[in-house]
Amino acid sequence: MQTVVPSERFFTADQFTYANYQEVVVKHAALNLDVNFDRKVLDGDVTLRFERLNPDAQTLTLDTKDLLIKAVALETNDGWVPADYTLAAADPVLGSAMNIAIGTDANQLRITYETSPTAEGLQWLTPAQTAGKEKPYLFSQAQAINARTMLPVQDTPAVRMTYDASLRVPDGLLPLMSASQDGQDADGNWTFSMPQPIPSYLIAIAVGDIKFKAINDTIGVYAEDYILDASAEEFAETPMMEAANTALYGPYRWGRYDLIVLPPSFPFGGMENPRLSFMTPTLIAGDKSLTNVVAHELAHSWSGNLVTNASWRDAWLNEGFTSYVENRVMEALYGEDRAVMEQALGLEDLKRDVADADRPSLTQLKFTDDLTHPDEAFSQVTYVKGQFFLNFLEDRFGRAAFDPFLKSYFNAYAFDSITTEDFLGFMDANLRAQNPDAVTDAEIQEWVYGQGIPATIRIPQSDAFDKVAAASARWSGGDMTAAELPTQEWSTHEWLHFLNGLPDLTQEQYKALDDAFSLTGTQNAETAFAWYMQAIKGGYAPAMPALEEFLMTVGRGKFIYRLYGALNDNGLAEMANRVFVKAKPGYHPIAQRIISDILAG
Ligand code: BES
Ligand code: ZN
Repeated sequence: MQTVVPSERFFTADQFTYANYQEVVVKHAALNLDVNFDRKVLDGDVTLRFERLNPDAQTLTLDTKDLLIKAVALETNDGWVPADYTLAAADPVLGSAMNIAIGTDANQLRITYETSPTAEGLQWLTPAQTAGKEKPYLFSQAQAINARTMLPVQDTPAVRMTYDASLRVPDGLLPLMSASQDGQDADGNWTFSMPQPIPSYLIAIAVGDIKFKAINDTIGVYAEDYILDASAEEFAETPMMEAANTALYGPYRWGRYDLIVLPPSFPFGGMENPRLSFMTPTLIAGDKSLTNVVAHELAHSWSGNLVTNASWRDAWLNEGFTSYVENRVMEALYGEDRAVMEQALGLEDLKRDVADADRPSLTQLKFTDDLTHPDEAFSQVTYVKGQFFLNFLEDRFGRAAFDPFLKSYFNAYAFDSITTEDFLGFMDANLRAQNPDAVTDAEIQEWVYGQGIPATIRIPQSDAFDKVAAASARWSGGDMTAAELPTQEWSTHEWLHFLNGLPDLTQEQYKALDDAFSLTGTQNAETAFAWYMQAIKGGYAPAMPALEEFLMTVGRGKFIYRLYGALNDNGLAEMANRVFVKAKPGYHPIAQRIISDILAG
C-alpha cells in the first residue's frame, strides 16, 4: 500500500523562517528578562545552546523582528567573547535575519536585547485597560511567527527546544509562562522551566494582577479577580476532558494543565501554550455551552504540542487533528447529539470559507508554496476539512482500528515535528497495509492535495438542527409567531444554527425576533455575534449601538474580523471606520493589523 506523493512536495522547508535549521539547530533557550511596563519592553538577554548538523557550519541564522540587539557573545575556551553578527534589512512579514559567526567549536551564545513597544507578539495593557483598573497587564501570542518579536530564535515549528526563564516583574504582579512555574529565587527572580522540547511558537508569557483557583490537584484556572470564580465554574469539567483524551490517545505528558482567562482583547478563542492554555473571557457564558474550546486547546497537548506540524503548510496536522480530537472528547463527555451539532456548525463555516477563499489553492489541506503569510493557513479549511478527513478515515477503517492507530501515531512522533507526507507514510504502513481496500489512493489524494470539499465527506445529520430549520421556515413563512418558536429547549448550538440559517427578513421580522428573545445585547458572545452578522446583512438599525459596544469590548478575532468585514461590505463602512478608530488602541497588535487590512479593502 503506497500513497503516491508528488515528489516536490515531499520535503517541506519552512518558507517563513530565515533560520538555517538544517545546518545548526538551537536546542535550549535560557531567558533572563526584566518586564518593563514603563517602557513596554522585555529587556535582558537570552542564552542559546546549539548543535551543528553540518560540522562545517560557522554561521547561525536566527529570526528577529523589531528587536533592539545590544550585544552578542560567544562562549569559547577563553570564556565569553564578543561575536560578529549582522542584521539583514527587515522584511515586513518575516522581520530581519540575524547572522552570527559561531566559529567551529562554540555551542553557546548570549544575545543582549530588548523588544519593541510595538512588538506584534506582545500586548501591553495599561491599568485602565484591565478589569481591576489598578495594575498593568502583559500577554504574548507567538503563533504563528511572532516569537521572533519576543526573542531572537529559530522561529519555525520544525525546530524544537527546551527553555527556562528568569523574570523580574514589578511588585504585586504575577508572571506566568508556558512552562513549569518554579517560584521565586533568593533574588526575587521568578523562575520557569520547560523540560520538554517545544517549537518557538509555544513560548508564552502573561503578567498581571492574576489570581489562581484550583479545579483539582493538577488542573486550575488563572484569571483576574472579577472572573476567577466564574471561570473555575465554567471550566469545571476540564478534568473529565483530560481523562477522555487520555483514554483515547495516551497519557498527558506535560505535568500540570492550567488555563488562564486573559483580558477581552486576547485575539483568539484559545491558544494551546503548553501547561497553560490562554483563553478568551468570551467563553465564560455561565452555562458551559462554549467549552469545546477548552477541549480543543487541551487536545493540542497531543496534536500540535506533542506532534507538531513541521511547517505552516502542514497546519492541518495541528488544527485538523485537534478539531477531530476535540469533537471526540465532546462526544465522550456530552454524547453524540452535541458532537454532531458542533460538526454541522463547523461544516457551515467550512462551506463559507471555501466559497470565500482568495485562491483555490487555499482550499487544500496541504498548502502549496504560494502562502503569503501563515495567517492564510488558518481558515476553516485547515480546521474543519482536516477534521472531516479524519472522520472519513474513521468511517472507512472503523473506530476499533482507527483509535489505536491515532494513539500509536502520537507515540511514534512524540516531541517531533513532521510533515503531511510523514503522516501519510505512517498511515500507509500502520493502517492501510492491514486493510488495503478501505480507501483508495485517489480518495486520499483528493482529501489532501485536492481543492474544495471532497465527494466522500460524511455529512453530519442532526435531528435537532433539522427541527430548528423546520421551525425557522414556518416562522419566516408566517405560519407561527416568534413567541411560538420552540426555543425553550434550544441549546446555544441550536440558536446558532437558527441564526446562521435565517433567510432574508423584513425589518418587522427582525424586530419580532429581537422583542421575543432580546437578542441585541445578549450575553453569550457566540449568539451575539451570529445575531449581529444577520443584523448587518439585513440593515437592522436597532442592533447597531449594541454591536458598537461589542466591538469596543471584545477583541476576539473570529468575531470582530467578520463583523468589520460585514459592515464594510453592507454599506456601513463609515460606521466600521468610526468604531475602529475608537476601538483600535484597545485591540491586540495582531487584530489592529488584520482589521486595518480588511477596511483598506
Ligand atoms: N492555535 C490556535 C490559535 C491560533 C491559530 C493562533 C493560528 C495563531 C495562529 C488555537 O488552538 C485555536 O484554534 N483556537 C480557536 C478555537 C478552536 C475551538 C477552533 C480560536 O481561537 O477560535
Ligand atoms: Zn487549535
